This record gives sequence, structure tokens and C-alpha cells, in this order.
Amino acid sequence: MSKRHLTFVCQNCGAAYNRWQGKCEACGEWNTLSEEGSDKPAGPGRKPGKGRLFQLQDLAGDAQDAPRIASGIGELDRVTGGGFVRGSVLLLGGDPGIGKSTLLIQATAALARAGERAVYISGEEAVAQVRLRAERLGLREARVELASETSVEDIVATLSEGRTPRLIVIDSIQTMWTDTVESAPGTVTQVRGSAQALIRFAKRSGAAVILVGHVTKDGQIAGPRVVEHMVDAVLSFEGEGSHQFRILRAVKNRFGPTDEIGVFEMTGSGLREITNPSELFLSERDLGQPGTAVFAGMEGTRPLLVEIQALVAPSSLGTPRRSVVGWDGSRLSMVLAVLEAHCGVRLGGHDVYLNVAGGLRIQEPAADLAAAAALVSSLANAPLPADSVYFGEVSLSGAIRPVAQAGARLKEAAKLGFTGAVVPESARAEAAGLSVNDIASLTSLVADIAQRGNLRRGGENGAQEG
Ligand code: TYD
Ligand code: MG
Repeated sequence: MSKRHLTFVCQNCGAAYNRWQGKCEACGEWNTLSEEGSDKPAGPGRKPGKGRLFQLQDLAGDAQDAPRIASGIGELDRVTGGGFVRGSVLLLGGDPGIGKSTLLIQATAALARAGERAVYISGEEAVAQVRLRAERLGLREARVELASETSVEDIVATLSEGRTPRLIVIDSIQTMWTDTVESAPGTVTQVRGSAQALIRFAKRSGAAVILVGHVTKDGQIAGPRVVEHMVDAVLSFEGEGSHQFRILRAVKNRFGPTDEIGVFEMTGSGLREITNPSELFLSERDLGQPGTAVFAGMEGTRPLLVEIQALVAPSSLGTPRRSVVGWDGSRLSMVLAVLEAHCGVRLGGHDVYLNVAGGLRIQEPAADLAAAAALVSSLANAPLPADSVYFGEVSLSGAIRPVAQAGARLKEAAKLGFTGAVVPESARAEAAGLSVNDIASLTSLVADIAQRGNLRRGGENGAQEG
């Protein structure tokens, strides 16, 4: 009998120590170490030394039939890259209450309706609760197989019987526990052990498994950071509290792109797909107000028009405030610096707020020009033309750089009734019927807006310097 060893495992990154300490040296987090029983080696125990012989195979072998299973929910398939891959494991993360369980019960129901075997296992809710939700969603008659279970061994044993399910949902991985590990459910060691067992089952049986993971305050998938490395794809389900939109984004995907997003709306009867998100994101525009510009962006292969809102106001603080929602704070600083250095726009005495409407998060540098236009428009108190879109990357020298897929962006703008576009010079060729104002530098954009508003530039902007 070996004595049971205690180890201290960081609940953030999974690093193990044999003594307690306040700070995890691996990830730098404080107070994340907690005591756990030692991790037995994963997999069936085997004596070291003698291994089982296995067959090596050619790269050009027979591909398995129908490697993907379309879920029947278009926006979900777009993000996964065309459906769930057989034998793959996907982790879906998101804040509590964002709609993970709703999305997955809808996905399992859609598959079940198509005659596939789909299983939904909840470790958090009783079967009656899941039924109640399904009833509310109008999915009562779909032949989803339900259970409320938390033991991974029981789940694997049950699902190994009969026809292999095409899709298995485990809601959530934090509630699962496995006999092979001694720690309490929810600890990193348990989460990792349970995930390993389920991943082994998926690979062996060919079923697609979706693990639901909770997210901590700072947006990490709680505990199972370690799980992110083990699974084939990580999706994150996001939304702003005040909005009904939900955005599904791939953080990692071994079988597809990671830049596609799926857009949903949470309604009284579940999640509704939004197939034309631009219309949605532009639906509540403040037409004719200074400080707003429409950015023609791309999310993966899909163009997406969204309003960028800026407020520039004189500051009473020694260090003026810079606040940004939905965009990168350091990109904002860069655009502000370029405006000051090359265009004579003095913002040092102003608070600057920038917001991407609708709760969307933009990652493209192509949004620089739209952000700059919104900022200058707010400062000059001059509304931008309501029927124009903006895109282009701003370089540190103030030049407007070309961006990818200008044609698709302009086409989408034309489709939604826009008539003008302020874009990099290279985009002129792709006009798509819009009247294109191609600019080479940020200075010409600023001059253009200044003409219409009361922008004082350079030394003239004395009011705030006093
Ligand atoms: P849920 O899927 O339980 O979230 P998660 O599993 O991510 O914690 O969603 C719960 C929220 O969604 C709850 O606030 C109520 C809302 N909701 C609707 O607005 N309409 C619906 O049809 C359903 C089922 C839920
Ligand atoms: Mg849930």
C-alpha cells in the first residue's frame, strides 16, 4: 500500500507543488493553490517497460464516411466550420445565464429530429428542469435522450451500449467526477481527469462530445484552462448584459477557421439565428448625430457593418480618461497619437470614450479609420454623412493602408443602402456602385470633417490648453 500523497494544485493553470504557497510560480496568480489527492497516472495502469505493439498507417488512407455532422443550426455550423466532427471534443465556454444550455438543447433537438441519436447529460439540472426548458422552446417531441448524471464512468458505460450517439452534450464539465482521481468535483484535477475520460470515449466511439465550461469573472474558462489544450475546439458564447444578441466565437478550432462568428438573439422561445447581422447592428442608429461612423468590417468570411460611437469631451482631470468598449485600448491610443502628431488634432485635454454598438467586439485594424472619423466628428461636433461607411488601417505615419476583402465590404454596404464609402486608395477599383472617396492619409479625412464642423486645429485649439 503506497501512502497517499497530497499535492497542492493551482486551480488556474494546474501546476502542482508539494508545499502550499501563496503565489503560483507557473502562472503568477495568487491564492489559487488548493490541496488535492495525488493524480494517479491517466489511463489503465500498465507495467513500465513492455508496450503493446501497434500498426503504423499511411497518411493516404481511406477517409471515414461523413466526417462532419451538420447541427441544423446554421450559425453554429458556421463557427464550427461546417458541423461537428466525428470523434471530436468541443468545449463551449460562457458566462452563467448567457444561454449555453439553451443553445445545446436546441442543437441536440435539431439532430434528434434529423433521426440521429443525440444525448444531453446535465450535471446541474434535474431531468424535469431540462424538460421544462425544452417545452418552453417547443422541442418537447424531439427524441433527445436525457439524463441527470455526474459520474463519468457511469456515463461512459451507459453510452457505450447500443448505437453510438452522434452527439453527446455534457453540461457542465465542472460538475463531472471520475473515480480515478481523489479530489473533489470542480477541482482542476477532477476536471482534467473527467475531460480525459470523455475525450478517450469520443475518440474510441466516434461520437462528437460537447463539454460546457463555466467562465470566471476575468473571462477564463474556470479551472479547465488545462482542458482547452486537450479538446479539438473551444467556442465561447458572449453577450452584453443589456443586449439580446449573443455571439458565438471560435477561440480554437482544429478542424476549421477561428475567425467566424455566429450571431443569435435570445427571445422568449429560445435562441434565434440572425443570418444578416449587419441589419441588426445598425438597427438602432442615431442618424445625424456627431460622433458616429459606420465601419464596414469582416468577421471571417462574412462582412459585418457596425456603428462605432465616440464621445470626446473637455476633461477636468489631470490625466484625461480613455475608455473603450468593444475595441482594443492600445489601438485607440495609437489612433489618438496619430491624430495629434500628424493632423494637429489636440486631444490631450479631452476625455475620450469609444464604443462599438450592439455589444460586438472588433479585432480588425481596419476599424482604425472609422474610429478616427467618429472621434474627429465628435470633437468637431460635425455629423458624418449618414449614408457612408468607413474602413482602412491607419499607420503610425498617418497613411491609410489597404485592408483585405475591400470588395466584400463595399458590396455589403451597397446591399444595405449605403451610397458612399471613405476607404484606402486601393479600394477604388471595387466600388460596387458606391461613390468612393479614397483617401491617402488621415490628414485629408480630418480636413474634410473640419470643413463641416468647428474644429480648431494645431495651436488654435487654445481653449483646453489654458
Ligand atoms: P441558459 O441556457 O440556462 O444559460 P447557461 O446554460 O449559459 O447558464 O439560459 C438562461 C437564460 O436565458 C435565462 O436568463 C433566461 C434566458 N432564456 C430566455 O430568455 N428565453 C428562453 O427561451 C430560455 C430557455 C432562456
Ligand atoms: Mg446551463
